[in-house]
Order: sequence, then C-alpha cells, then structure tokens
Amino acid sequence: TAGPLVLGIETSCDETGVGIARGTTLLTNTVASSMEEHVRFGGVVPEVASRAHVHAIGPMIEQALADAQVSLSDLDALAVTAGPGLSGALMVGAAAAKGLAAATGLPLYGINHLAAHVAVDLVAPDSPGLVTPTIALLVSGGHTEILRIGDIVEDVELLGATIDDAAGEAFDKTARLLGLDYPGGPNISKAAAGLLDGTGVPGDPQAVRFPRGLATKKDLRDPERRYSFSFSGLKTAALRTITAAEAELARSAEPAGTAPTPAPASGAAPASSPNGSYVCVPAVQGGRYADVTSSGAGAGAASAGAEARGERGPLRLADVAASFEEAVVDVLVKKTLLACADTGIDHVLLGGGVAANARLREKLAEACARRGVTLRVPPLSLCTDNGAMVAALGAEIVSRGLAPSDMGFGVLSSLE
Ligand code: KG4
Ligand code: ZN
Repeated sequence: TAGPLVLGIETSCDETGVGIARGTTLLTNTVASSMEEHVRFGGVVPEVASRAHVHAIGPMIEQALADAQVSLSDLDALAVTAGPGLSGALMVGAAAAKGLAAATGLPLYGINHLAAHVAVDLVAPDSPGLVTPTIALLVSGGHTEILRIGDIVEDVELLGATIDDAAGEAFDKTARLLGLDYPGGPNISKAAAGLLDGTGVPGDPQAVRFPRGLATKKDLRDPERRYSFSFSGLKTAALRTITAAEAELARSAEPAGTAPTPAPASGAAPASSPNGSYVCVPAVQGGRYADVTSSGAGAGAASAGAEARGERGPLRLADVAASFEEAVVDVLVKKTLLACADTGIDHVLLGGGVAANARLREKLAEACARRGVTLRVPPLSLCTDNGAMVAALGAEIVSRGLAPSDMGFGVLSSLE
C-alpha cells in the first residue's frame, strides 16, 4: 500500500521544484524560486528564468534526495513537467530528467502541468482524496484555466483559458501601475485592505466599475468565449483611472500652493514611477486621491469602462485596488460556476498562486455554497508551482501501470 517512489521535477515558470512522493505520501517538496531576479522587470523574464533553472536544478535534485533520505537507486520512476509553460524553462527540467533517466535506467513520465496542479491534492496532508469529476480553476502568474476533470489521467479537458494576460499577471501589471512591487497580487490585496495608505480602511470594491472581460451575455453565448478570460482591458482601465485621479489631485493641490514635494507622479507616466509614488502621494493626502468626478475622470476613463465617481467621496488607492480585485474575482467565480452548471459537476478545486487571494477564496466559497457545490483548496504551498504536484501525478500514473513516455518527448508551451 506504500505506492511507487517517484521524483518529480517542475520548471515551467520561475520555480525550480523537486518533489518526492511515495504513493500519496509526500516525502519532500523542495522549491527554489528566481522571483527575486524578476522583480525589477515587473514580471517573469523567460531567459532569466531558464538560466536560473540551469543553476538550481542539480543542487535541488540533490537537496530533495537528501531531505527525503532516499537515493536514486530507491526510486521507481521519474516525472517531469512537459508543458504547458515557458519553453526554455521547460527544456531545462526535461533535459535534466532525461539525463537522470538515461543514467539510472528509471522510467520517465512527461507530465501535464495543469493536471498536476489538480493531482497535487492527492499528497496534501489533509487530502480528502481526489474528488472527481471536478471543475478546476487554475489561476497563477503564468496561466488561467478552467478544466473539466473526469479522471486525473485519462479525462482532462481544457474548457477555457485567458486570451491575453493570466490573472496573476494582471495583478502584477496593475500593481506596477499603482507603484506597488512585484509580485503584485499580495500588494494589491494589502492596498485593497487599506494597509498601504496608512488608513487601515478597506477600499470600496464598487468604487470603480472596471470592465469584466469576455463576460457580456453575448460572450457567454459564444462557445469560444464562454470559459475564456481577458484581463488586458482591465489593466488599461486601471491605468486611465489612476492617471485621471492623479491629474485631479495635482490640479486640486496647485491653487492653494500646497502641492507636496513628493508629487512627481502628477506629471510622470505611472509606468515610469514604479516605486512608491502612487502609494506615497495618497499617503501625504491623508490616504486619498483627489475627488474624481465625472468631469474629472475624463472621457478616457469612462470609455475604458471605469465609471466616474459621481457623488461618492474621494477616490483612494484602496478603492482602485479593491475595485480591480473585485473585477478579476467576479469573472473567475462566475465562469467557474457556469462550468459547474453546464457539466452538472458539483465540485470545484482551486489551484495556482492566485488561490492565495482572500477575496477570491471568499467569493468562490460563497458562490459554491449557494449552488450546493463543494470547494477544495489545497494548502497554499501546494497551490503554487512545485515539484510535489509532478511527483503526485507521476505516482498516480505509475500506480496504474501505465507505460512511461518515449525518451524523445518534447516540451510544449501550450498543451491541451
Ligand atoms: O503559482 P505562482 O506562485 O507562480 C507563477 O505563476 O509563477 O503564482 C504567482 C502569482 C503572481 O502573479 C502573484 O501576483 C499571484 O500569484 N498572487 C496573488 C496573491 N498572491 C500571489 N494574486 C492575487 N492575490 C494574492 N493574494
Ligand atoms: Zn502553474
């Protein structure tokens, strides 16, 4: 009953992960991240990620074996992410795994990264066992998908994905526009909670009506768009909103001659002021952007779908962050439950780094409860990219007695 001993390698994005599982028991989940190296670029740079994998992959494999106190000769199989992901990054893991397989004679299994995000629940300490069929919502910095999973090995169907930015990427890019550091998700959440402007007052998620991409009635009727996502318009709308708010702030500060010295943001393009101007300007103004009335917001913001503020009070950084978060979460939740309704499946699994978002967890839990759908969120350390998920799916495949991959298998940046 112990199950096969499998070492899994994950290098699809910026995490170099090596996990070892014995059946459904996780022995180690060792992860190195090159995230720090991407901070100044505001997002993952493929070349930088690939090079970091080359440095990390050898030591990480050694580290995982040491942590789990197993040697290569104890293993029953090797597993590695074959896609989807960044091609160059995937190649590093695949090449390492093939080298190990050649040297040891161990069977090697190429693994679908998306299915692995779901299979990881098999090795969670509090695992209820893998519930199938299930709808899976996978949201990270690299991908955004809704899957229908009848069986974790034989019946994995991609219902829809983002056509532009990933959900986490939208958080990261918008955070940058707001002057918040990468990774942007946690910082936008903090800003939305009012923790970054010194007020401690949560933002109003209805303050700005940001666009909900691909979620009009017409989009939902179109089978090509029903489960697809688009977040790039949201980013543009956020930019217009904050630019208008800042312009208004500068204008209102001028006549009184009270323009604070740290006001470079008034004229500067938001993207060129990545560190702090949007945070510190509202802070010196008591945590408030200037009042953005319908005239103040300008036609740009209005046409981008960012509703003018009208009667409401001053627009705060917290309001913009909360409204942005709400727009992303709204579509994610709506489409996930649509998938449940369409397929008659009453279980949802949430995975990917954006699963850390409290608002998403809260709204998804509420919506699921309302429809009698059960929701499972694996522990966060297993939601982000890691080697355990690859080992978990590898062990499941080995347990079923399936044949290993051909040694010539390639990596696929998109895999369906
Ligand atoms: O799965 P993950 O760790 O790795 C990659 O995709 O590479 O996901 C990281 C992503 C980043 O885009 C980050 O901004 C986002 O997850 N993220 C969040 C939160 N925490 C992390 N997004 C929204 N809210 C959060 N609390
Ligand atoms: Zn992932």
